[in-house]
Amino acid sequence: MDKWQDTIDLLKQYHQEHIIDWLEQVDEQKRKELMNQLNEIDFHEMTELYENTKKEIEFKENIIESIPYIDKEKLTFEQKQHYEELGETAIRSGHYAVVTMAGGQGTRLEHLGPKGTFKLDVYGKGKYLFEILAENLKQANESYQTTIPWYIMTSQENHEQTQKFLAKHNYFGYPKEEVILFKQGELPLISTEGKLLIGKDQTIKLASNGNGGVYSSLRISGALANMKEKGIKWIFIGGVDNALLKMADTILLGMAIEAKVQIAAKTVVKANPHERVGVFCKMNGHPKVIEYTELPEKMAEEVDENGELRYGESHIMCNLYSIEAIEKISKEPLIYHSALKKNSYLDSKGKEVIPTEPNSYKFEAFIFDGFEFFDDIALLRGKREVDFAPVKNKEGVDSPKTAKELYEKFWEKNSKNQ
Ligand code: UTP
Repeated sequence: MDKWQDTIDLLKQYHQEHIIDWLEQVDEQKRKELMNQLNEIDFHEMTELYENTKKEIEFKENIIESIPYIDKEKLTFEQKQHYEELGETAIRSGHYAVVTMAGGQGTRLEHLGPKGTFKLDVYGKGKYLFEILAENLKQANESYQTTIPWYIMTSQENHEQTQKFLAKHNYFGYPKEEVILFKQGELPLISTEGKLLIGKDQTIKLASNGNGGVYSSLRISGALANMKEKGIKWIFIGGVDNALLKMADTILLGMAIEAKVQIAAKTVVKANPHERVGVFCKMNGHPKVIEYTELPEKMAEEVDENGELRYGESHIMCNLYSIEAIEKISKEPLIYHSALKKNSYLDSKGKEVIPTEPNSYKFEAFIFDGFEFFDDIALLRGKREVDFAPVKNKEGVDSPKTAKELYEKFWEKNSKNQ
């Protein structure tokens, strides 16, 4: 009874009286579910996040500097060999694990179901995105005579579907015991009036907390502890939607080991100075990915003594961390970014409202905000045609059509490996 009263008081304190009405309307089972959900919500944090959406974005006087990178293409044979040896040794010794972030909603692609279950129309028969990733890892296992543990981050929403899909396809031939699924965290959606929303299933409407949720989810789910038990030292984290993602790049790993850094990333150079992508820089002395909207136009066009863009290294979700780095970031609070979206909900009479205009905020942490906790990052510039075939939009740029072309072109050149 006390718990019930505490919850009612909390709802009143945070102006969520509509939820009290709702609790009184639903049956016992739903009431229990709702109470459990409400006990998990940090109302103070949610109020703060909501209040922040009303504040003007402050452009602080930041010191933005360019950041050094190594161009893979320009490495000498000896340098390449040295990095490869270092990376290979770490992988062969069982010190390497990979994480695939597959908890996104893939709204732009409009595919029903988890994005990894999308079939890219390659070579007539087609290949699922999860299948393409599994093939890439299996090839690495063969080359380095090991089995790289593969952790897959799902969302509450797509976990079961992902699990069933992978089981149905026999994990695309990947050793099942080395495929570990873990769920990412969620946050409530908040209406533009600051209210929690009730979803079609009569519970509070929650949504994934963004790809930056990967760090804390690795810790909370026990995946990080599992990695430690296995003796993992390096963790690669990548997206599910890049058909040319190389998850075990020994040059990237060797370069990070040699540079004695805790974090590293592969980049590709911007297609043009005004491409709408985030680029790496140093901000106030720390590595950072700066959004194209925040990079002054003059800086975006700046070139160095070799004619290269000074701020040209785009972030392509191809990141590498020491296990200590993941531990560190997983304990730090990352800032949440808000996005105004259309979300359906039940009104006070239980009738579903499907908005025609954005009506609520979704709060997401971004993976690259984790870089700011370090002084250095090692960057390796890869090549678009080798490393980056994103599947983001249903049509046009970064769509299944462009990814198919890039994928087939790459494998035509490297057919001996097919
Ligand atoms: P995006 O930010 O491109 O989002 O994700 P998305 O969900 O794939 O697509 P849209 O924006 O809804 O159209 C980049 C990577 O981060 C993962 C995605 O699965 C993808 O691999 N991600 C994103 C998560 O794992 N969780 C999230 O909450 C968001």
